[in-house]
Amino acid sequence: MVVIAVTKEPEAEPRVAVSPETVKKFKNLGATVKVQSGAGVRSGFSDADLKAQGAEIVASAAEALNGADILLRVGRPEADDVAQLKDGAIVTAILSPHDDRDQLNALAGAGASLFSMEFMPRITRAQSMDVLSSQANLAGYKAVVDGAALFGRALPMMMTAAGTIPAAKVFVMGVGVAGLQAIATARRLGAVVTATDVRPDTKEQVQSLGAKFIAVEDDEFREAQTSAGYAKAMSPEYQAKQAELVASHIAGQDVVITTALIPGRPAPTLISKAMVASMKPGSVIVDLAAERGGNCEATQAGETVTVDGVHIAGPINLAGELAFNASSLYAKNVYTFLETMFDKDAKALAIAWDDEIVTGTLVAKDGAIVHPSLTAS
Ligand code: NAI
Repeated sequence: MVVIAVTKEPEAEPRVAVSPETVKKFKNLGATVKVQSGAGVRSGFSDADLKAQGAEIVASAAEALNGADILLRVGRPEADDVAQLKDGAIVTAILSPHDDRDQLNALAGAGASLFSMEFMPRITRAQSMDVLSSQANLAGYKAVVDGAALFGRALPMMMTAAGTIPAAKVFVMGVGVAGLQAIATARRLGAVVTATDVRPDTKEQVQSLGAKFIAVEDDEFREAQTSAGYAKAMSPEYQAKQAELVASHIAGQDVVITTALIPGRPAPTLISKAMVASMKPGSVIVDLAAERGGNCEATQAGETVTVDGVHIAGPINLAGELAFNASSLYAKNVYTFLETMFDKDAKALAIAWDDEIVTGTLVAKDGAIVHPSLTAS
């Protein structure tokens, strides 16, 4: 019998790694799911909801962990907690493996196989396991809703007897998963939307959502996408041309949503303090790259500041602010991944260690860090 443990996340993390739906699915695979009491509350999953689908609610983390085969977490667990699992146990979480290496080493030292969900390869088979997509999509939506709330005016055009309110202008910088959802959300709210990216594929995607694409479309732009579908870091020459374009465009914008990221690097700076100063007082920037240094020079991670009359939000866990949705989707991503590791007849774990989704996400095994991106000197 496979025993799965789910423990409470720290104060800063409202999400949880299991939902009533996935408890039921794990039960159907023949597993026991032990959930620490209260672990789902901030996601809107009460102990009773989870119990109704077959979870065993236990009073303490230790009771859930002791002798478990699998620990499901959203963020990085404590090494002491992982040490309580059964020998050969596995842990799935958003481990942020590039952060705090000493702590990661200590966690690896606890002996379990650690899987980092954000390393999931972006292949068709793994789309339903892609936590970056499921969470970024929600963040893109929430960024526009928060931006609209910070903006002290209406977004849609309204023609009333007392006069016409013009549609607000929303500019989305970075058109990955979060950016696409931001464009769609801003359009639904009636804004006039423009968007920019360095990857040529995004042009058509932007246009198909009814927004206008603006970018420096030179030779470097045509080569800016890696084979994995991500952006490359652009040359200083390109960045200068891009800055000129952004500077002339941004002064007329009401709400700017920035989502530009380059894997494994700090976020590119796209909005300088001078550009902020050129914007109208009362306009808004929501910087989704805040956690990785920010796309705007004036962003402060985790804060909303007002600079030259412009409100600049630097949220760090926006998906977590929609914890019910974020946890439901995250839990489903994790379930779909783990389902591939179950031998349904034997009701036991049977991990295919050479499967690309396993090798892609496995960060540590038998006490050592094993992922190539973390072992390369
Ligand atoms: P991300 O979060 O790494 O970056 C967000 C966006 O910022 C990207 O579109 C990137 O091109 C853009 N960016 C980077 N530097 C920039 C700059 N200097 N100026 C303007 N924009 C800049 O990207 P995300 O959302 O993770 O998506 C990356 C790619 O992966 C996309 O092509 C997406 O469609 C693809 N994808 C594929 C999946 C699959 O096949 N299973 C699942 C999800 C996404």
